[in-house]
Amino acid sequence: MTIDQAALIAAAREASTRAYAPYSGFHVGAALAFADGSVATGANVENASYGLALCAETSAVAQVMNAGVRGGLLAVAVIGGTPGEDGAATPGAAPVTPCGRCRQVLNELAQLGGTDPVIWCVGERSVLELRLSALLPHAFGPANLG
Ligand code: THU
Repeated sequence: MTIDQAALIAAAREASTRAYAPYSGFHVGAALAFADGSVATGANVENASYGLALCAETSAVAQVMNAGVRGGLLAVAVIGGTPGEDGAATPGAAPVTPCGRCRQVLNELAQLGGTDPVIWCVGERSVLELRLSALLPHAFGPANLG
């Protein structure tokens, strides 16, 4: 199945308008594409206790797993930056790649479904494309627990 990169990035961008990021001012949106054609999104949710911020990717994974999804993850788009006039993240030159915790959280869903999703990290003028296995090589996951 081919995932529409532009559409997934647009979904991530739209999700970033709902970021709650009053402390960092850095708004992030993530969009997950599944084998059944569905798309789920998330944005970062910060907290007055700064260290408790939830990233966009983790929010999106928690949302779908709460809906019972356990696999089929084919692609992820991530966009981050300060919000522009339309409220969406305006990416800087360096594409935002998922943080370490988000890589591990994404890996859980990917490994459950036996997929290695492509991760599209959006920059100002470019999209960095990486497989999750490249972002998190030799990942620890459910398979290790037998
Ligand atoms: N953030 C994400 O949502 N995803 C990432 O992969 C990197 C960081 C958020 C967390 C925090 O709310 C803000 O970006 C600044 O670190």
